[in-house]
Amino acid sequence: MTIAHQLQAVLRRALATLPEPPPADFDAPVSPAADTRFGDYQANVAMTLAKARRTNPRALAAQIVEALKADTVLAAISAPPEIAGAGFINFRLRPEFLAAQLATLDADPARLGVEPPARPLTVVIDLSGPNIAKPMHVGHLRSTMIGDALARVARFAGHHVITDNHLGDWGTQFGKVIYGWKHFLDEKALAADPLAELVRAYQEASRLSDADPAIADACREELARLQAGDEVNLAIWQKCVELSREELDRIYDELAVRFDHQFGESFFRDALAPLVARLEEKGIAQTSEGAVVVFFPEDPKLADKPAIIRKRDGAFNYATTDVATYEQRVNSFHADALWYVVGAPQALHFEQINAIVRRMGYTVPLTHIPFGSILGEDRKIMRTRSGDNVALRDLLDEAVERALAVVEEKNPELPADEKAEVARVIGLGAVKYAELSQHRLTDYIFSWSKMLSFQGNTAPYLQNAYVRIRSILRRGGLDPDAPGSGGVPTLTAPAEFDLARKLAQFAETIPAVLDDFRPNLLANYLYELAGAFHTFYETCPVLKAGEETQRDTRLTLCRVVARTLRTGLDLLGIEVPERM
Ligand code: ARG
Repeated sequence: MTIAHQLQAVLRRALATLPEPPPADFDAPVSPAADTRFGDYQANVAMTLAKARRTNPRALAAQIVEALKADTVLAAISAPPEIAGAGFINFRLRPEFLAAQLATLDADPARLGVEPPARPLTVVIDLSGPNIAKPMHVGHLRSTMIGDALARVARFAGHHVITDNHLGDWGTQFGKVIYGWKHFLDEKALAADPLAELVRAYQEASRLSDADPAIADACREELARLQAGDEVNLAIWQKCVELSREELDRIYDELAVRFDHQFGESFFRDALAPLVARLEEKGIAQTSEGAVVVFFPEDPKLADKPAIIRKRDGAFNYATTDVATYEQRVNSFHADALWYVVGAPQALHFEQINAIVRRMGYTVPLTHIPFGSILGEDRKIMRTRSGDNVALRDLLDEAVERALAVVEEKNPELPADEKAEVARVIGLGAVKYAELSQHRLTDYIFSWSKMLSFQGNTAPYLQNAYVRIRSILRRGGLDPDAPGSGGVPTLTAPAEFDLARKLAQFAETIPAVLDDFRPNLLANYLYELAGAFHTFYETCPVLKAGEETQRDTRLTLCRVVARTLRTGLDLLGIEVPERM
């Protein structure tokens, strides 16, 4: 059990013995202390309870502390708790207790103390979702990275996770793409770089239809023909999807992102007409000015924002497809929760989808997990010098190239093939970590020099810490991958104690990441862990430790730190090298 949960259990027992106990379901959380000068863990229960009862929080805290005195379990965990500030109850862990926790972690290399959830969920995660034949841009990188990290963390935490890449492979862009394909496709360019040529064809058709309504009409006709099942247009569409997917798969391979499914919008195309008919029959949708629309008069936020589910020309759209997708996820996957990692501008879209499926009688929650933009160093949405969106593939290539220059400089002796491999691990790790260490809603500034630095909150800093610790373990003759025997170490130096406490908090961090879908909590945890390690390493000699028990304790700490770093980075989709 995590330390916080153990203390919480103790606290609940004490609350039940009060003259006026709170209700059994009263939430009494215990969390790591904000300021460790006053303790290691703290509870604010006296304050929340006193507020509800309009009594004095410090007096109530004194009552609780009195009740805690009799608890023998607590006596083994913590020194007698103290009251601080407005009524915080502070716990100071006993070194012997923390040492025993460390031994447990060392004996459990696979889980590192992370407990299975009280109720494992089947979660469908919708991530990435690039549009075929439209330029894939860095915004899709955010969805891919955040979505992949959440999938990894949720799986590790013990949930049943199903990932689905909802490819935009049936949208209105195909009218223009097909028009472009028929009128000005460059076969040679298509063979050399299919995705770029499809994007060019789309953009050229777009430009022409903006200038000439006749061409705009022609594009719409191509789309209508495709949707009506015209064989020529379907064949062109099929080819576009195949070519794009090959290119996308290369990028996903490089990023080590795998999907359980990639149904894409086109998978649902035959479900749309019956769906709209059903919605009309049930009175959820109605005809308005030739279109089929769902109104939300009862919802103040959506009252003036009806959702069109069939356009006047008969075409279905993005919203229609998302309702069909929701039904499939709930009915075929038996999902308990649906998470959509999609940019903040689509908030309204998901509110509409949510409102529609509620009206249909569905109860499974749909959660939109929005994120902000990536900015260039000029603080504007990141673009290339020519003003285009930055292509993801170019960005990843540049990351690896720049990392190679860093490796050349830091470690010129490394053999060339190992250099290339280390550069790949550092370059991709740097891009992913820069993304995941930010709160997802902040617009973050993309800076090569910052993300590739070996100092500060970066992937190379953490990877380097891992490499150094592994080298200490090798020199100390401790098998870094073997589980500990469970023998209890002795924590004496304050830096040993602080490091052990930080290690025990990995198990508290993992569920917190999922509470508000924030991989940055894990990134920040790893950064603090590496910081605690550095303080420890500066003040506590490991290989030259005075006596054997001390050396063993310190090597054990090193081993658990290395594992925690590797596991934590892996949950962010980041690899570690053995040398760098
Ligand atoms: N293709 C969409 C876009 O690029 C993202 C898809 C998100 N997923 C969904 N189920 N709507 O904006």
